[in-house]
Amino acid sequence: MSFFTRALPIGSRSLSIARPSLIQARFESTAAVKRQPRVLPSFSLDGKVCLVTGAARGLGNEFCRAFIQSGCSSLAILDLKESEAQVAAAELVAAACVNSDLKPEDLNVIGLGCDVSSELSVQKAFESVMDNFGRIDSVVASAGIVENYSAFDYPFDRIKRLYDINVHGAFFTAREAARNMIPQGGGSITLVSSMSASVVNIPQPQTPYNASKAAVRHMASSLGVEWAKKGVRVNTLSPGYMLTKLTKTILAHDQDLKKTWESLTPMGKMGEPEDLAGAIVFLASDASRFMTGAEIRVDGGYCVI
Ligand SMILES: NC(=O)c1ccc[n+]([C@@H]2O[C@H](COP(=O)([O-])OP(=O)(O)OC[C@H]3O[C@@H](n4cnc5c(N)ncnc54)[C@H](O)[C@@H]3O)[C@@H](O)[C@H]2O)c1
Repeated sequence: MSFFTRALPIGSRSLSIARPSLIQARFESTAAVKRQPRVLPSFSLDGKVCLVTGAARGLGNEFCRAFIQSGCSSLAILDLKESEAQVAAAELVAAACVNSDLKPEDLNVIGLGCDVSSELSVQKAFESVMDNFGRIDSVVASAGIVENYSAFDYPFDRIKRLYDINVHGAFFTAREAARNMIPQGGGSITLVSSMSASVVNIPQPQTPYNASKAAVRHMASSLGVEWAKKGVRVNTLSPGYMLTKLTKTILAHDQDLKKTWESLTPMGKMGEPEDLAGAIVFLASDASRFMTGAEIRVDGGYCVI
């Protein structure tokens, strides 16, 4: 069977031997009955249980939306406040059912409170997810914070808090994910790093953040090697400047900063959170099954100049 024939909907199998004019006519009539997007099946998250930290808003929330759009129907949203995680879960289900065949009962999306900087809190959240779904296939560690202080002015308690969330939080999340994935045969873990792992952002000072993201990137490679033969893949997604609450908070104090960031980005603009959808689905799905310890940068070209 040719690739072309396999990619078409069932009922179109004879196309590979039909005359070209008939191919066009028959394809159009099939498409008129039901227009299904033709996508590589390995990108589908159908049947997979997904978990995203820091997902009540921002990039984490966008990753959840992308997962539901790609067929995931069992999803855990983790964030600091359980109430916010639950509101986000309800909003996600409602949004997914607009202009769609999906009904709310088709989706099992739960919102859980979890402070990723506490190992106990992460362990409890994973226990709840296992109780609810019985397995975990794809985990994204997106919870993270940034602050801008010059090195001399940065209070140590705030540096420590940043590392507790960005670095230790990613580690606790990955370790708990792998503990649950290894007995079931494997899974995919994506740690959200940043282009700041590779470049020094200007003009805002953020040395501990940059170092935390470099740590996260190398953590993913190191864990990827540790768990490679156990079926658990660990990769990094490193965004450039994206418009989320995190960056909007910074820009609120400095209107000219957005122009500076855009001028430093070859594409001339900041990214929208949905610009990461393709990359996160690729990493979470079987489409990336031979990939571990790797980084995908999505930064409008920032790092290459
Ligand atoms: N927005 C960007 O331009 C950008 C660029 C590169 C990397 N990133 C990274 O992407 C990730 C998400 O950033 P964002 O822009 O969506 O930020 P955001 O502030 O919009 O969202 C972060 C989410 O994480 C949650 N969170 C914070 N501390 C937590 C904790 N201790 N436990 C659990 N949840 C916690 C927050 O409540 C929030 O919902 C971060 O790791 C960030 O470093 C963002």
